[in-house]
Amino acid sequence: MVDLYGVKERAEKLRGQINYHNYRYYVLDSPEISDAEYDALMLELIRLEGEHPELVTPDSPTQRVGAAPVEAFGVVEHPVPLLSLGNVFDHEELLAWHKRVSNIVKYPIEDFVCELKMDGLAVALTYEDGRLATGATRGDGFRGENITQNLRTIRSIPLTLPRDAPRRFEVRGEVFLTKAGFKKLNAERERAGLPLFANPRNAAAGSVRQLDPKITARRPLDIYVYSLGWSQSPVPPTHWEIMEYLKSLGFKVNPLNAHVEEIEDVETYYQSWVHRRENLDYETDGVVAKVNSIALQEQLGAVGREPRWAIAYKFPATQGTTRLIDIGINVGRTGSLNPYAVLEPVAVGGVTIRSAALHNEDDIRRKDIRIGDIVIVQRAGEVIPEVVGPVVSRRTGEERVFETPRRCPVCGSEVVRPEGEAMSYCTNTACPAQIYESIKHFVSRGAMDIRGVGEQMTAALLDAGLIKDAGDIYYLTREELLKMERLAEKSTENILASIEKSKDRPLANVIFALGIRHVGGETAELLASQFGSLDQLAQASEEELLSIPSIGPKLAQSIVSFFRQEPNRRIVEKLRLAGVKLEEKQEAPRELPLAGMEFVITGRLESSSREQAEAKIKAMGGKAGDSVTRKTTYLVVGADPGSKLARAQALGTKVLNEEEFLSLLRERGV
Ligand code: IVH
Repeated sequence: MVDLYGVKERAEKLRGQINYHNYRYYVLDSPEISDAEYDALMLELIRLEGEHPELVTPDSPTQRVGAAPVEAFGVVEHPVPLLSLGNVFDHEELLAWHKRVSNIVKYPIEDFVCELKMDGLAVALTYEDGRLATGATRGDGFRGENITQNLRTIRSIPLTLPRDAPRRFEVRGEVFLTKAGFKKLNAERERAGLPLFANPRNAAAGSVRQLDPKITARRPLDIYVYSLGWSQSPVPPTHWEIMEYLKSLGFKVNPLNAHVEEIEDVETYYQSWVHRRENLDYETDGVVAKVNSIALQEQLGAVGREPRWAIAYKFPATQGTTRLIDIGINVGRTGSLNPYAVLEPVAVGGVTIRSAALHNEDDIRRKDIRIGDIVIVQRAGEVIPEVVGPVVSRRTGEERVFETPRRCPVCGSEVVRPEGEAMSYCTNTACPAQIYESIKHFVSRGAMDIRGVGEQMTAALLDAGLIKDAGDIYYLTREELLKMERLAEKSTENILASIEKSKDRPLANVIFALGIRHVGGETAELLASQFGSLDQLAQASEEELLSIPSIGPKLAQSIVSFFRQEPNRRIVEKLRLAGVKLEEKQEAPRELPLAGMEFVITGRLESSSREQAEAKIKAMGGKAGDSVTRKTTYLVVGADPGSKLARAQALGTKVLNEEEFLSLLRERGV
């Protein structure tokens, strides 16, 4: 006979323990037991429940791994509607909001709570008798979808609560995916050939609305709760205290929330996060300022669907949507065909974006970006805007798949895509686009650093036929430059001086400037130190290159092939003839004649005083010591030597008489 009562008790005990350790781990971030110990508890519970399915409870932690699939989501009515938030975008608008609410209560409101506005999806969690009863999406604010089974899989949502929790109440919060979790999820999807999520919010929303909770369970979702929807029991008088109370019940509240006095403190909080938010592991699109007093909140009420007592102070947007009009091609200096997005202009965070990076063909294919798509574009900080992905739901069927051209859009030459590379290349080394880009690269800062020859100047010099490759820069004359449109005497002089100065650039910069495919700044440094001169490098065979650690076949082949090509050899010759330094000067300072030697003098010298002799030794780079040690190179012995001689003999130190000492100095040219 199975002692069913004992089993039930044991299962309950295990559930209590596991819930407690879940809380330590997922909410407090401070586990008390090892993963192995936790797993042992979990395994025991899974085994017990497996043997006694009648004992399984819906709030058992075993159910977090995903219960049976829900057929379709049922509808949940929200007894108290989920409101949205009004927005402000700058300091003035924030002050205007403050003035409006203060006018209603007829005194300047103080005492606010500042929270980060999480960019995820809102959920309402209803608890009954200490258990999670229902979890729902916001829906239209009045009715949402029942996603209880899925929310149960989120480890930071408590399934059971302490005894003193209110009998019935509802907590609201934002479910989100961390940036790291999002990246990992997309990487997995990429490997599986599945379409990628555009951002963590979409991924979170997609995850909680899975029909199979097992899928949700595998997504690293998290929650921060931010309000109490309603409660059957009396609640604390301020929002801040309510949050503290929810924390005490086991809910996860954002530790970055702040309780502040004045409206200016809200501004300070906002300013403190507007840039730092980039370092957070979740996305936040603003700050929510809330009037702390619940009584005041009630007095202020709502206009339409927006409460007056809270406001979202939005961060400048980093994403926007617009139409991808076309995919253009830039030909890079190595001949690479670089696709870029031509966009219908869109304002993102106050900047109008007309084009954006698309990286390479593989990227376009992987993200399934089609010409004509509505796409999500993103700009963060100073980086070039990029196309994140298409909004597939807005496709009309008119979109076109991008095909890499077979011929170079600039010179019409054949295009090839080397095996294992994500890019296609124009095969014509004389392609004007390649020449232009390679000259731009040659004069750039990390390369020859020729000031005054920028993009426009390069284009103008090429147009005027004054240069045909980078080497020609060194043969430009004052007269030729002066003839260039709008080039004043002064700037001509500056350009010539800068060209002259560049002849002395370190070898690594010269190697980098040549623009050999796959040779970046670091590789150039390595090559310079290994070969010491451009000629040595140019003569190196693939085998020789491959013998250098960190140089692989792709790189070795690229270097050898570069120096085989006639146009490239011509450039190198032009540089040589112009007097560009093509080797690393062995600039080890000429050593002083007595460098590395230590002399000790004992006895009286005939030719000079001991002090004079010592000064001479030091001036010539040697050292003069007082006593003989193992480091002493020579003991110089004059008349009436002391005990130093015996010590030198004991140590085997070389001994010189005055004659020998003077002839050593002569030998050394002193
Ligand atoms: S308070 C009546 N606090 O923003 C107050 N909302 O635009 C309503 N949100 O649907 C919510 N972080 O999903 C509040 N700390 C936060 C929030 C937050 C994100 C979302 C929430 C809501 C939307 C309103």
